[in-house]
Amino acid sequence: MKVLVIGAGNMGSGFVKQLSAAGHSVSVTARDIAKATAVASQFANAKAVAASNAAEGQDVVILATGYGDAAAALQSVGSLQGKVVVDITNPLTADYMGLTIGHSTSAAEEIAKAAPGALVVKAFNTVLAQVLAQGASLADGSKVTVFVAGDSDTAKATVKSLAESIGFATKDAGGLKNARYLEPVAGLNIYFAYGAGHGTAIAPAWQGF
Ligand SMILES: NC(=O)c1ccc[n+]([C@@H]2O[C@H](COP(=O)([O-])OP(=O)(O)OC[C@H]3O[C@@H](n4cnc5c(N)ncnc54)[C@H](OP(=O)(O)O)[C@@H]3O)[C@@H](O)[C@H]2O)c1
Repeated sequence: MKVLVIGAGNMGSGFVKQLSAAGHSVSVTARDIAKATAVASQFANAKAVAASNAAEGQDVVILATGYGDAAAALQSVGSLQGKVVVDITNPLTADYMGLTIGHSTSAAEEIAKAAPGALVVKAFNTVLAQVLAQGASLADGSKVTVFVAGDSDTAKATVKSLAESIGFATKDAGGLKNARYLEPVAGLNIYFAYGAGHGTAIAPAWQGF
């Protein structure tokens, strides 16, 4: 697939690494093009691109910025009409130990409102950057699950296929509204990793189905 990654930070660089290794054609953009270039230059199949019209011709756009930067970042890459947009964000408080929105909305739903016409899919928000960078298999042999929520079945199928192509298991988590549940799960994951000190080689899983 042709994938645009917006953001060249912890998560963005992990996506560039894993997607390019899996043979996808990866473009990465950042506010500072030098940061995108520094990431892209490490991997085959990856290139840094300017934001302007960067979404054109892409099969999937991965939004890998902070939640507060999401709307501006999406607006910077041109038309997203009918485009699959993967929202990985968590609307975290400054100390990373809480969420700034929830219950009656979610980051994903707010991002969908900010990008009308885009097919927004919530995914990867429960995958820590260290796990993404290291790969989907944990030390105990388990495979990390990507929970996929969205209102378009075809968009979800595309995102599941993309996640599985880089080694992750996937679970359909229903409509985009269920991002209201997935974002707190990421909060619990961050608590386990940092608050409770279990480290970052961990991931949430669901049992029995
Ligand atoms: N880190 C994790 O373990 C993890 C796990 C799951 C989900 N997430 C979510 O993933 C998102 C990214 O997290 P991260 O840890 O990768 O953060 P990060 O390292 O701070 O990276 C975010 C990147 O987005 C860039 N950015 C901001 N506005 C932009 C714009 N308008 N256009 C292009 N790029 C822009 C930033 O650029 P500058 O360098 O110029 O500021 C920065 O490089 C967050 O929403 C986070 O909640 C993170």
